[in-house]
Amino acid sequence: MIGQTKPDATEGFPADLLLGRLPASGGTKTLQLAQELRAAILGGRLLSGTRLPPSRVLAVELGVSRSVVVHAYADLAADGYLEARRGAGTRVRPLASSDAAPSRAPDATRLAGPPDNRPSLVRIPARVRLLGGLPDPQLFPRTTWLRHYRATLATIPDIDLGYPDPRGAEPLRCALTSYLGRVRGVLTTPEQIVVCEGATQGLMLICRVLRLAGARSIAVEEPCFGPHRDAITVSGLTPLPIAGDAHGLDPSRLVESDAAAVLVAPAHSYPTGATLDTDRRRRLIAWARETEALIIEDDYDAELRYDRTPIGSLQGHAPDHVIYLGSASKIFAPALRLGWIAAPQRHVAALQREKRLADMGSNPIDQLAFARFLERGEFARHLRRIRPIYRRRRDATIAALDELLPDAAWSGAAAGLHLYLTLPPGVDAPSLVTTAYRRGILLEHAALHWANPTNAPPALVLGYGTLPNPTPVIAALSQIIHASQSSS
Ligand SMILES: Cc1ncc(COP(=O)(O)O)c(C=O)c1O
Repeated sequence: MIGQTKPDATEGFPADLLLGRLPASGGTKTLQLAQELRAAILGGRLLSGTRLPPSRVLAVELGVSRSVVVHAYADLAADGYLEARRGAGTRVRPLASSDAAPSRAPDATRLAGPPDNRPSLVRIPARVRLLGGLPDPQLFPRTTWLRHYRATLATIPDIDLGYPDPRGAEPLRCALTSYLGRVRGVLTTPEQIVVCEGATQGLMLICRVLRLAGARSIAVEEPCFGPHRDAITVSGLTPLPIAGDAHGLDPSRLVESDAAAVLVAPAHSYPTGATLDTDRRRRLIAWARETEALIIEDDYDAELRYDRTPIGSLQGHAPDHVIYLGSASKIFAPALRLGWIAAPQRHVAALQREKRLADMGSNPIDQLAFARFLERGEFARHLRRIRPIYRRRRDATIAALDELLPDAAWSGAAAGLHLYLTLPPGVDAPSLVTTAYRRGILLEHAALHWANPTNAPPALVLGYGTLPNPTPVIAALSQIIHASQSSS
């Protein structure tokens, strides 16, 4: 993903752009880059009017010389795909109707616990919260949000203060369509987006729609994010655990299930952090096509990827078979309760109905403020700011673990805000969590995320997002673990 350059090099610019790695051979780099961009435009991932990153930014991100990008842009401009205007940068031009991707013109019509015996992790006070996936509230861009809230409140038309469109505010659905296409390779339209109160509400809505359509079960990764398994259960569906490994969920195990859908986080599974490999992505899509099952793609933290070219969404490869779920919880704050669904057209009306019945639609002021963030490239700028910070925190956490807890094994750290820590042999995870809590450290026991927690290996989900300096915390953890080993 593009976006780890010096902030001043890209000021005011949405630099994130999902492009494949340029192959080492097969034509000049300029030709290859032009082909990649042309395919993205013709495939509908780069919409008309999308501003491309400045050549110097893209060159740094791709590791090529600036002239490669300049020449690729010039070739595409000569072919009519791009247009460059002084002071306005390079943008995608509207295509002629004969070769255009399907129209995405916004719709002008305005529409006037399961047995909850798991401990709540939300409000327990502790000095250090190592919970998986928590972003740092200190990094929340309060000033920019305030500016957009003010502007939204000052300009929102009276009519928009009535009950909102249950699919979400149209400007946000348009901005998300463009953003998701550009950054995650999602192929959708504003009419297919339903804005929801976080990915979890999105999943609840999807479950209700599937249940009403006659579904009985949804396959889930084993382990998977516990609250999502609970959401499936309370919707009257049976979650079917499907084992995976370091390469993600194994699709061959789906074959004997009669699941109507599978819930999967292919870019960064929770809690293990596994990434679904290319072969399994292909086989998962083949399974969905053959059985007419749905893939529910939970893309909750994919923007925070640190070490390699980002993996595009599954949805972009099979838009008719995948319901895509995204969330602002990791990038901004869980408290915003902002998420989005991009659904195949045939499910949109039912999702819209469920959303209306759930809460009569999400707060449009939040949505319009967020739309302004996206439209102005400030979302991309925020990502460029936080990604290197979280990457440094992750690296420092890993370095501290390697030094202070070498007998524990970490994995799944390529993206997001957590890693998976398998504890050294002989450590009792529940008592470790209790002892650490008494010392002011809140830990997340990975067993929370297993269908049957007694099957879970002793492990923690270690969230490093809120730790500017992880070493003292890891030292304290190491001390507690080693003390428990010597007393057992
Ligand atoms: C796997 C997974 N998906 C989604 C989310 C985000 O859910 P929401 O958008 O409802 O906050 C989380 C949060 O931790 C998660 O772990």
